[in-house]
Amino acid sequence: MIYVTRREVFSAAHRLFNPELSEAENDLIFDKCNNINGHGHNYVLEVVVAGEINPKTGYVIDLKKLKKIIKDFVISKVDHKHLNFDTDFLKGKIPTAENISVGIWYQLVDKIDEGKLYSVKVFETENNYAEYKGE
Ligand code: NI
Repeated sequence: MIYVTRREVFSAAHRLFNPELSEAENDLIFDKCNNINGHGHNYVLEVVVAGEINPKTGYVIDLKKLKKIIKDFVISKVDHKHLNFDTDFLKGKIPTAENISVGIWYQLVDKIDEGKLYSVKVFETENNYAEYKGE
């Protein structure tokens, strides 16, 4: 098994709050991230595909093809967007790095037809990221 990674960056706004909680509780849990009009991040996304090397091409998956899949099904829906309002696959979710990585996984898992989706990593800052590898 060999693993190939495509890295993408996108800029987006979000607000972390849970509409089922009181204002005080949201402030306590999410603090600055609960800012009413949101705040932005320059996110880094890493998508890892695992598989065997195709002897015809030498690739697991052509990374140009993976790039296009990520662009069409993820980047177009998140780059320069407000994740709470604009991104269909995050509707009803608190847009944490955790929920973003799970959402991106389900955007991609059926689209990758060479190799298998192995992991989706979403860096919200240089130091903080979430990684989803499926259930
Ligand atoms: Ni944030």
